[in-house]
Amino acid sequence: MKLTKFTEQEKQELIKVGLENVITHWADNDDLRKEPKVFAAGEGCYVYDINGRKYLDTFSSLITSICGHNRPEIKEAVIAQLDKIAFFPNYHDSFSVPLIQLAKKLSEIMPGDLEVSFFVNSGSEANETAIKLARQYFWQTGKRGKYKVISRKNSYHGTTIAAASYSGFPSLWEFLDPTVSGHLFATAPNREIEADQKDGGQASLSDMEEMIIREGADTIAALIMDPVPGSNSGYPIPPDGYLQKVRDLCNKYDIFLIFDEIQTGFGKTGKWFACQNWGVTPDIITVSKALTGGYAPLGVAVTTKKIANVFKQEAGAEFRSGSTYGGHPVSCAVALANIQIMEKENLVQRAADSGKYIKAELEKLFKYKVVSRLQGMGMIWALKLGADREKNVDLDPKLKVGAFIRDYCWNNGMILRNNAETLVIAPAIVMTKAEIDIMISTIEKAIVAAIKHFGL
Ligand SMILES: Cc1ncc(COP(=O)(O)O)c(C=O)c1O
Repeated sequence: MKLTKFTEQEKQELIKVGLENVITHWADNDDLRKEPKVFAAGEGCYVYDINGRKYLDTFSSLITSICGHNRPEIKEAVIAQLDKIAFFPNYHDSFSVPLIQLAKKLSEIMPGDLEVSFFVNSGSEANETAIKLARQYFWQTGKRGKYKVISRKNSYHGTTIAAASYSGFPSLWEFLDPTVSGHLFATAPNREIEADQKDGGQASLSDMEEMIIREGADTIAALIMDPVPGSNSGYPIPPDGYLQKVRDLCNKYDIFLIFDEIQTGFGKTGKWFACQNWGVTPDIITVSKALTGGYAPLGVAVTTKKIANVFKQEAGAEFRSGSTYGGHPVSCAVALANIQIMEKENLVQRAADSGKYIKAELEKLFKYKVVSRLQGMGMIWALKLGADREKNVDLDPKLKVGAFIRDYCWNNGMILRNNAETLVIAPAIVMTKAEIDIMISTIEKAIVAAIKHFGL
């Protein structure tokens, strides 16, 4: 790892230009005003800012760097590919070698008969692609009325206009209204309502079926959903039987089932893909983030030969989509090296094993009455705080207890993500037991500090 030493003047200049000449993704103006951070290096589960401060990253660089930073195997794969050819597009009738190799590898690790890849640059694009695949499939197979898309409230699917429109958080699209047409929001099972758990989320399934009947199945192309909703929703685990019932509904009404595994895919739940925990296979799966371990941008929508073959027959039948850099050879070479590390180090099983340990350690925090709920699996966990667990009382949002805990962790050398009063923990799969212990003890110290500070 190379950690550049910056002079005070260089640091000031970097921050000044960053603040003036960049619009930060999902910017937080309050935090930007307080203390903008500039990162300069990474090693394993740690990252370093331009002041040389070291942070344990419990959010794995936005849930990407599953095998840690600065892996020589991945750096070698990048150089090896650059030595051959930096770029040639996957365009028209052309492929690059690593792109084909990656497609083969993905067809081996994907569940069921998901074997055909369309490569893009990001998760949002992968989801847009999945919707386009579904819509063009029905358009081409004589069911042109099937164009609507169902997604679920409280699920995030991306930042582009359609992906944002399908995301169940109004703040993402209210300024875009009217959003894309033909879009429907269904409810998801509520983890916190016991009845929903007991009957496998039947209430939301009935709502979904009623919606399909009301709208007309012959108008609906796809249902896009995350088998385990992401960090914004606090990783609620689906009730037993729910995913299979969704699969059955889609089969019954001839609707494509798209699983967005951009956050949950690639080992983090203790299986290659979260849906494998319940043995349910969609028609299309979308992956990005950890696909390259954070070393390069890449996304992919993977579908079946049966679906893909509709686009591979006569001239004019082709799938009408493409981007210049989608499936960049360097990104594909990186993904292959990342998968090789995962296989060699048995990281999928390691996520399952570490997950059991993390769960047991986090459960010990229930000794504090402000810790109200723990959800997640493998390497993705959400710890919800409340005023009083027994009485089911929420914290006053004005106190900003979650932000206080996050800031405490940052000030003590650890990156922690919070969504209001929910603490989100999604570290690299390679995080060691000793690092997990540091992570949990820092969270505990932060909770104790918050209890004292706010008199909770
Ligand atoms: C579940 C889910 N879907 C889609 C996306 C969008 O991916 P990207 O940010 O790569 O466009 C994300 C990103 O956080 C995600 O978590």
